[in-house]
Amino acid sequence: MSSFKQLQLYVRWKGRDLLIEMVNVSKKFGDGFRALHNVSINIKNGEFVFIVGQSGAGKSTLIKLLLKEISADSGSIIINNKDISKLKRKEIPYLRRNIGVVFQDFRLLQDKTVYENVAFAMEVIEAPGKDIRRKVPIVLSLVGLSKKSDLYPHQLSGGEQQRVSLARAIVNGPSILIADEPTGNLDPDTSWEIMKNLNEINHRGTTVLMATHAKDIVDSMKKRVIEIEEGIVIRDEQRGGYEV
Ligand SMILES: Nc1ncnc2c1ncn2[C@@H]1O[C@H](COP(=O)(O)OP(=O)(O)OP(=O)(O)O)[C@@H](O)[C@H]1O
Ligand SMILES: [Mg+2]
Repeated sequence: MSSFKQLQLYVRWKGRDLLIEMVNVSKKFGDGFRALHNVSINIKNGEFVFIVGQSGAGKSTLIKLLLKEISADSGSIIINNKDISKLKRKEIPYLRRNIGVVFQDFRLLQDKTVYENVAFAMEVIEAPGKDIRRKVPIVLSLVGLSKKSDLYPHQLSGGEQQRVSLARAIVNGPSILIADEPTGNLDPDTSWEIMKNLNEINHRGTTVLMATHAKDIVDSMKKRVIEIEEGIVIRDEQRGGYEV
């Protein structure tokens, strides 16, 4: 067999690798409110998955569990073959390094420029200056912001700010990008710009998980849709829509 063929087979085999595996995960809050109940989900390397459901359904709770911002009461969560419930506190930064995150409200550092916001994500993991100078312009160009690198967040439109936060989320080359309502504060046209960026990031090999209420976007992108209702997965559909 040619080495190219072998490489192709390897890539296909890698493509089947499970990246995220949640098995019977439950989470209650405070006085026993059930935010998630017996959630089991498998996500493969390279997938693009929408998480939908009404406000309060448990979407952000699921995301916080994956980031280990909160811990599950029961069940297991395996990311990249590692059971994250067993991670020691000092191992959590390694998990987070492998997961880029984007939120509805951008969360940029207001006193840093576009370039500095993205560079900062590399500085905190102590990346060499040479790598920072090489990679930051690459990701800024990927999200179409090369010309804005010296501006501050308050000088940018909402869509541009969200693109900075996308660039920051991917600059360390995570295998997973999680976006919690990334278009929630944006108008429809700007939202589509963000979706194009997310699609491009996904095509370059990053698995994308996005919680959203954007019906039009989910309906036209025809990706896998996982629907949560009152903490329970009620639908998991390939090429699904926002509603059944
Ligand atoms: N820290 C907490 N303490 C108590 N209850 C919480 C906490 N976090 C979430 N909840 C509850 O868990 C439920 C699920 O919340 P979650 O934020 O996951 O919903 P969501 O699907 O992301 O909703 P939205 O679409 O409005 O963002 C809600 O009823 C919420 O009030
Ligand atoms: Mg939420």
